[in-house]
Formats: sequence, C-alpha cells, structure tokens
Amino acid sequence: MNVADLAREHGTPLYAYDADMIRQRCRDLAAWDTVRFAQKACSNLAVLDLIRREGVVVDAVSTGEIHRALKAGYSAHADRAAAADGLPPVHPIVYTADIFDRASLDAVAKLGIHVNCGSADMIEQLAERVPGANITLRVNPGFGHGHSQKTNTGGEGSKHGIWHEDIPEVLRRAEWAGLSVSGLHMHIGSGTDLEHLAEVASALERVAIEIGRSLTMVSAGGGLPVPYKPGEVHADLGGYFQLWDGMRKRLEERFGHRIRLEIEPGRYLTAESGYVVTEVRAIKRQGSRKYLLVDAGFNTLARPVLYGSYHPMSLCPAKAESAADLVAGAAAEEVAVGGPLCESGDIFTQTDGGFVASRALPPAQVGDLLVIEIAGAYGFVMASNYNSKPLPAEVLIDGGKARLVRARQTPEDLVRGETV
Ligand code: LLP
Repeated sequence: MNVADLAREHGTPLYAYDADMIRQRCRDLAAWDTVRFAQKACSNLAVLDLIRREGVVVDAVSTGEIHRALKAGYSAHADRAAAADGLPPVHPIVYTADIFDRASLDAVAKLGIHVNCGSADMIEQLAERVPGANITLRVNPGFGHGHSQKTNTGGEGSKHGIWHEDIPEVLRRAEWAGLSVSGLHMHIGSGTDLEHLAEVASALERVAIEIGRSLTMVSAGGGLPVPYKPGEVHADLGGYFQLWDGMRKRLEERFGHRIRLEIEPGRYLTAESGYVVTEVRAIKRQGSRKYLLVDAGFNTLARPVLYGSYHPMSLCPAKAESAADLVAGAAAEEVAVGGPLCESGDIFTQTDGGFVASRALPPAQVGDLLVIEIAGAYGFVMASNYNSKPLPAEVLIDGGKARLVRARQTPEDLVRGETV
C-alpha cells in the first residue's frame, strides 16, 4: 500500500495510521502494571479497539470519551478476576477532569466509572450521587512543564489538579463526604522531557505519604516525549520506569500492601503512527518566498497554528515511476507550506508566535502528494469544520491493508441539525 494508492482510494486530505507502530509503542511500556491511554490524543474507535487488544486501558475526559471507550469494547467496571499478585483491580475506564458537567456526572454515576478528581468540588458532587465511592486525586505539585506554555499543566499558571498544599483540607472533605481516596495521580504537562517528569516521582511520594494507607494506585500521568525534529531521539524509558518503580516499592513497604503503578500516555502511543496525506494544489511566489498550498489546513492539523509545532514532511511526486525517482530528485528548495483556509495563520511551517518559516523539500508540482508525519496524536481529534471543510477520512493500515475506519464527512454532515 503506497501513498499514491491511499490518496487514489480514499481521497485527500486523509489521516492514515500504522497499526504495528501503535502496537510497538504499547509494548514499549510493558514494564508498567497499567498503561492507560489518554484517548484525547487519538480516539478513533478502531485505534481504541487495537489498543484494548494490547491490554492497554483508557482515560476519558468527557461523556463522549466514555461513550467511545464503551463502543470500543471497554467495560465500565473493574474486572476483579484480573487482579494478580495482590494488586488492586484495574479500572478499564477512568474519568479524569477538573469538573463534572451535568452529563458526565450522570454518566459516571449511572455506569459506575472510577473518577480522578482534579478539583475538590467534584468530591461532594460525586458523593451525593455515588455514596461511598473510591476516588483518585489529581494533584498539581506546584510545578509543571510542556512543549508549549499551553500544554504545561502544573504550577500556579495551570487550572489543573488539586493544589498540593490543600491535601489535608481535601482529605477532610473526602472523609466528611464518605469517599475514600484509593489513587493518586500527577500529570505536569504534555510533550515535556524526562528530567522534568522525574521530579514528579518525588513530589508524588511526598503527597502519597500525606494521604496514607488508603492508597492502592499511583499514576505518573502522561507527557512522555516523542522525537519530532531531525536529530531528536527516543527517551530512556527503562530508567524512567526504574525511578517510579523504586518509589512505588518504598510506598509498598511503608503501607504494607501492594500499589498499582500506572502511566497515562497519549502522544507516545499514537503520534508516530499517524500521517496526513495531502495533495499540492497550488505553487506560488510572494516576493522572495515560495509557497506550496496543499488541500489540508489547520482545520485538518491544528498543532502548527496552535503551538508552532514542527511536523516532518515528505513529498511524493505524482509522476514518480519508482522509489528511485524519489531519491534521485533535484536538490531541495526552501518553501513555506500552507493550506486552503481564508486565514493567514493557515501555515504548517510556522514557529511559535505565528512567524512563517520554511522547509527544505524537493521541487514540487501541482498534483504531488505531501505527507505530514508524526501526526497521529492531537491530529484528527483537534480537526474542525472551520470554513465548512469536512472532517477528513481516517484509515488504519494493518497487515499491508488500509481499512477505512472513519468516512470523510459529506456536505450533508456539515449542516446536520441546522434549520433555516
Ligand atoms: N493525562 C492527562 C490528565 C492529560 O491531560 C494528558 C494530556 C495526558 C495524560 C496525555 O499527555 P501526553 O502523553 O499526550 O503528553 N494538544 C496538545 C497536547 C494537549 C495534552 C492535553 N492533555 C498537543 O497537540 O501537543
């Protein structure tokens, strides 16, 4: 299955995911007791189903994500029989948020879904509906880090989590409400690095000791980095696990019972599996700058306009007869790559702050395909209907075959529910 076949069969712009890459990334984390996928990164049902078959459970941040998890075959309740080695049962779906909207409170109460509370007000709201529930607390350790200030979820600048100094008060509130705190979770940001993530283990240990023996699960949250730019490499996950495992063992010794150790990656599991396939539709010069305009825009992939994110790109000439033609092509030239939207920010090659940058690509012609890579996390899920553009199709490539797992929206889909 090559890029031209995919484009011919499914049209462009198109999201394509490599199933084997997702499986490999799930297996990379096998040392952890539980890998919980932050499905906000890529929540297509076929991807969730694949991840479920790898033994990975899910996080849900909304009623919609709970619905997706159930549709993909996850059950709402912990499977008690699955608990081994004295570890507590795994909750297949955990609702993690800083609020309950009314629909999500109804859903977790009705389905009996475990809740990770990011604000203390959630405690009484849950207790009223589910008396005696066990909860996890998401704690903001007072520091955070992310690839962008917009993805830093710790410290005073972040709305996320229960402030670390409020733990005694929050424990009193939980006790008063009749809920017991069985889990502790920290997530300091997305796209951070292992140096910052390592600091979380000791911050979590301090808070765990304050909470005490009711704890049976600790979660390192997500945030694992992936290499996007040339020269970046994968982080040493073995060393990272050792650090957390050591901390968990100290807690087990102190509390006298087993503690389940979770990790909650989003990006790490799916980013590298995903490609956006686009077609070059216009090439022009604006003074000294050359632009390639493709049929995907920030309605398709929003990360560059939101964060100035870098995504690798490769060109697949429409006229290439063989792979050799791709390699033997003329010298690369510097081009800016943009999309079809009526907005200047619709540029894939931009840096943080909206400055247009360029990329070295082989000379392109209208009709060539441009593939935007490492787009499998926070790609399709953040796509929009801006400019009344349909959401793209998604295909899952497995065993050499591409399966359509979400149809491209139609013009009718765009106006569904509207009336004149
Ligand atoms: N757990 C919680 C509670 C989270 O809020 C997130 C991400 C994760 C886990 C997963 O983080 P990851 O392993 O993917 O870094 N749209 C941004 C990323 C936003 C992340 C939001 N929360 C981007 O495109 O970079």
